[in-house]
Amino acid sequence: MITKANGRIPRRVDRLPPFPEGWYFIATRDALLKEKLIEKTWMGEEIVAWSDDEGRVCVAEAFCPHLGSHLGPAAGGTIRDGCLVCPFHGFTFDTTGQCVATPNAPPPRAAKLKLYETREILGMIFAWYGVGGRPPQWDLPEEPPTGADWSGLAFATLRFRGHPQETTENSVDVEHLEYTHGYHDVEPTAFSIDGAYLRSCFDFKNVRTVAGLVDVVTEITVVTHVHGLGYSLVEFHENTIGMDSRLWVLSTPVDGEFVELTLVSQAREVRKPGRYIVGMGFLPRKLRNRLMNRILIHEERRFVAQDVVIWERKRYQSPPRLSRADGPVGKYRLYCRQFYPGPAPENGNTQTSRLPADGTATHGRRIDDRASLHARGGAEELRSTGSAPSRR
Ligand code: FES
Ligand SMILES: [Fe+2]
Repeated sequence: MITKANGRIPRRVDRLPPFPEGWYFIATRDALLKEKLIEKTWMGEEIVAWSDDEGRVCVAEAFCPHLGSHLGPAAGGTIRDGCLVCPFHGFTFDTTGQCVATPNAPPPRAAKLKLYETREILGMIFAWYGVGGRPPQWDLPEEPPTGADWSGLAFATLRFRGHPQETTENSVDVEHLEYTHGYHDVEPTAFSIDGAYLRSCFDFKNVRTVAGLVDVVTEITVVTHVHGLGYSLVEFHENTIGMDSRLWVLSTPVDGEFVELTLVSQAREVRKPGRYIVGMGFLPRKLRNRLMNRILIHEERRFVAQDVVIWERKRYQSPPRLSRADGPVGKYRLYCRQFYPGPAPENGNTQTSRLPADGTATHGRRIDDRASLHARGGAEELRSTGSAPSRR
């Protein structure tokens, strides 16, 4: 994997603003409980995260409003009785961000941490990044139903040069599924956009040669739910052995150059285990689910590693010169524009908008403002894909 240190590959994603607005993964609740206080670079910001004894999670800017000390554990920040204690002069902050105590004087009322709004889905903590600090413009979906027939979550994280718009584009780029990943008979079945929610569905076949002899063909239906560029949930329905699984693809910009891609998988009990999963039928259900999920996350990590080779070296191509076989890449590009609100005075945007000179800048227009987008040159991306998802 290319690292910042070896710097062999020139940065190619700098035609997109680095931090699209949206909800981005921070950490799991389990990690917060284990580590007590987490520090990380997220969306180009230094942040800290912790949970108090009642389970209230706080994600905050990592600098103390007193005299600016870093509050992370590496600088000596600690959690005491559910509050964050600054290592420099001992100012203490609760999960509302308010300074509630200092060692030798009443806490100044103005001493308050800058907070990020959070959401939690199955123990995964997300925070809202608003351009210019503006509040959430839309919400994450409800937690998906889960029960005893679902495994716990398995995680894998990759870090590489990239951009969340490029990684999320995988969901609609059906052509690469065959070419890069070796899927068979990929057939798009549905595609829709509703505000910040994009839904993309397709079917495909997976062919595995078992013991070098038998080709095992599995038929899979995929439904991808995209909620902004930091949160995608992919539902797999395997129709041959009767297995459902989920894969979250959580793409989080680190510093404007690297992204951290967290893969999270969850497997449901196989409905027809005897057919192909020889030798697993005797395992207790819980163990079998966990084992299946370990296999899944391993496989997904392997697939995504194939993408990473491309992502790290590609440039943002706009306009893309698409063929009739491509999925709705152009519509996806239009969908993405809502996550780059321009420097309108009302939202105080400070992010430098450096969208390409081919007219793909949006400056605050919504996805349904088609006329304006066309006027600015977005029509080319629409025209080049056509309107139907079918590729045959
Ligand atoms: S800088 Fe944090 S208490 Fe002084
Ligand atoms: Fe891919």
